[in-house]
Amino acid sequence: MKNRLEGKVAIVTGGGTGIGEAICKKFAQEGARVVVAGFPEDPVDDVVKEIQKEGGEAIAYNGDISKEVNAKECVELAVKEYGQLDILINNAGVFPEVNMLQDYTEEALDYMIKNNIKSAFAMSKAALPELHKTKGNIVSAGSEAGVIGIAQNAPYGGTKGFIHAFMKGLAVEQSQFGVRVNVVGPGPIDTAWTHKSTGPMDKKMVKTMKVATPMGRRGSPEEVANVYCFLASDEASYVTGALYMVDGGITVTKGPVGEEADSSMKKQPKGDLDLEHSKEGHTSIRNK
Ligand SMILES: NC(=O)c1ccc[n+]([C@@H]2O[C@H](COP(=O)([O-])OP(=O)(O)OC[C@H]3O[C@@H](n4cnc5c(N)ncnc54)[C@H](O)[C@@H]3O)[C@@H](O)[C@H]2O)c1
Repeated sequence: MKNRLEGKVAIVTGGGTGIGEAICKKFAQEGARVVVAGFPEDPVDDVVKEIQKEGGEAIAYNGDISKEVNAKECVELAVKEYGQLDILINNAGVFPEVNMLQDYTEEALDYMIKNNIKSAFAMSKAALPELHKTKGNIVSAGSEAGVIGIAQNAPYGGTKGFIHAFMKGLAVEQSQFGVRVNVVGPGPIDTAWTHKSTGPMDKKMVKTMKVATPMGRRGSPEEVANVYCFLASDEASYVTGALYMVDGGITVTKGPVGEEADSSMKKQPKGDLDLEHSKEGHTSIRNK
């Protein structure tokens, strides 16, 4: 099934790496014109070129979208280039530190409030007037950590819990304008964040994450992008205010059930998308 997003214009924040790259490529494959938004240091221009090489349509927005002035500029770019805005994907986020709270830095908390919370606030606020015109929709990145919490990064789970409640409130108030609002809640996904070589997680945390997941493995960015695609498409016309978990079952788990997963579940599907930046997300503090 292709072209589920034919004629739609989408902004994907944090689109240069990880899950965001997969969302951009999936949406382009399904016929959307995509604004790939990310920090200037992210491989945003590469993702645009890769989409164009496959015959898709995309443009780049390089900037910190947690700042209202940039969020407005990003929306204006979408409308100037493509004439409308139908879909906003609030995917941008950061995971800068793993520490018990007694050692957790205020700097990391401030960084998450800016990039996990203010980015969704600024982008949603800037996009809504355009989404009213198209009867569009918003899908935001929540997390299993926002539902069940996460040890050694408890404040991160708090920022994602904020997103869940924030988006449910938006779903209620924005339906009078024809706008749907939903959240995707990924479990452990195969990006820079969940590998000790590319992110702040230690060996124990990586192991716990896998054995606590009934499917016994990380999800692929593409498996998450598939659910974003459904929620953003007209197929989800009766879905608003929902939190869709894409988590291999981690939020309902009790104990180390991942060790018992069938081998068919433990193998990540090869997928369809050519993802080149899935582990290039940055996990240290920058662009304060
Ligand atoms: N990887 C996981 O296991 C996992 C689990 C649950 C939820 N999530 C959520 O999924 C989303 C994507 O995570 P990922 O694993 O792909 O990480 P990632 O680091 O690869 O992607 C996040 C991207 O957002 C960009 N970004 C952050 N703040 C920004 C800002 N203010 N302006 C512009 N760009 C900004 C980053 O530079 C990065 O490219 C995040 O919101 C995260 O909380 C991820």
